[in-house]
Amino acid sequence: MTSNDTLRVLTGITTTGSPHLGNYVGSVRPSVRMSREANVQSFYFLADYHALIKCDEPARIQRSTLEIAATWLACGLDPQRVTFYRQSDIPEIPELTWLLTCVTAKGLLNRAHAYKAAVDKNHTKGDDPDAEVSAGLFMYPVLMAADILMFNAHQVPVGRDQVQHIEMARDIAQRFNHLYGKHFTLPEAAIDDAVATLPGLDGRKMSKSYDNTIALFAPRAQLQKLIAGIVTDSRAPGEPKSTEGSALFQIYQAFASEHETAALRDDFAHGIGWADAKQILFERIDREIAPMRDHYEALVSNPAKIEQILLAGAAKARELSRPFTDRLRHAVGLRNLAAHSDRRGGKTAKAAAPSFKQYREPDSLFYFRLLDAQGASLLQSRGFASPQEAGRAVAALRRQGARALTLLAAQLEPLDNEKAHAAARALEELAQAAGNP
Ligand code: TRP
Repeated sequence: MTSNDTLRVLTGITTTGSPHLGNYVGSVRPSVRMSREANVQSFYFLADYHALIKCDEPARIQRSTLEIAATWLACGLDPQRVTFYRQSDIPEIPELTWLLTCVTAKGLLNRAHAYKAAVDKNHTKGDDPDAEVSAGLFMYPVLMAADILMFNAHQVPVGRDQVQHIEMARDIAQRFNHLYGKHFTLPEAAIDDAVATLPGLDGRKMSKSYDNTIALFAPRAQLQKLIAGIVTDSRAPGEPKSTEGSALFQIYQAFASEHETAALRDDFAHGIGWADAKQILFERIDREIAPMRDHYEALVSNPAKIEQILLAGAAKARELSRPFTDRLRHAVGLRNLAAHSDRRGGKTAKAAAPSFKQYREPDSLFYFRLLDAQGASLLQSRGFASPQEAGRAVAALRRQGARALTLLAAQLEPLDNEKAHAAARALEELAQAAGNP
């Protein structure tokens, strides 16, 4: 297996609410698991620009950003392993949003479900179709496309309600690629059918908008109280109970092993009382959540630490977004006028390009360097056992552009920031010349 097989997975979480059990089961838990798999490079970010579209309460956005960041970290997301950042720390995102806006058909956005729902609602009320509809809501899918395309994600784990947005990101990427060359990977929505949609207290899908949620990190006593509020039927203790359509049972299933689930099914058949069933559910959830709750409390009471983690994540993300944006700016014609470009606005004149040099050292290992157009060294590899291995690393670097710096980091000598930036640019130049995204 080589690092070329790396799957890039990206998802964003809008920072408007407080995490609940439904978010945990449906998104946080599976994402953290996925992020630990080999050959997955994941990007998780706090979509705070998106939050502005539906929320005009600054304090709530700040609080939600803190809580969601603490939740992901407490649930085991490893910021060393993944790229974990806050959308608004990446200025290249709004910049890309504009480049994409200019190739996005207005008609495409007219068809977005969220926008259409708002218009339909106005229609029903007899209001002006666009009453209370911000341009932000209309542009939502373009901002989301920028999030995804910036890091050339292959897969985007989302709920079904977001699938249309991923399809729009594909459309927009295709249009851009058609006009300016193949810069973007076409993303796919990843929907995991094995992941349960958790019912809420009233049996409908657990969702903030139904006000039926169970806070993920409610203190133990409060968790017990919330669970006591789950709606059940009126069967008395001793009467057999149906697992079918039981919110309590479904929530249990999302936490329990197969064995535990079978045991509760048995208890239902034998007429367990609802109070006892709720106690079992409470203990089971608390067993999984309690250790993370302590971690969460510690994180939330140390916002400076979270801020630092997010800024470090942004720095890591920008190692990719900065050179990639340079490349996109160049592609659309936002260019340095002093650089050798042909007056008639056509192709860039053939200039000396960066190159790779492979060699062998007295330690009998095989090495390579990346040289800039003037022959200065930008990047130095570690030693490889065979020239083939060194050659494969060179090929990966050529193909993948700047992101290969992160992907192949283990095979390269460490770089300071300035060198890394220069190397990233050179790699982007080579990838672009080869026509790779
Ligand atoms: N719109 C997504 C939601 O509400 C959040 C989001 C923003 C997102 N940007 C994204 C999800 C990019 C995936 C990829 O759930």
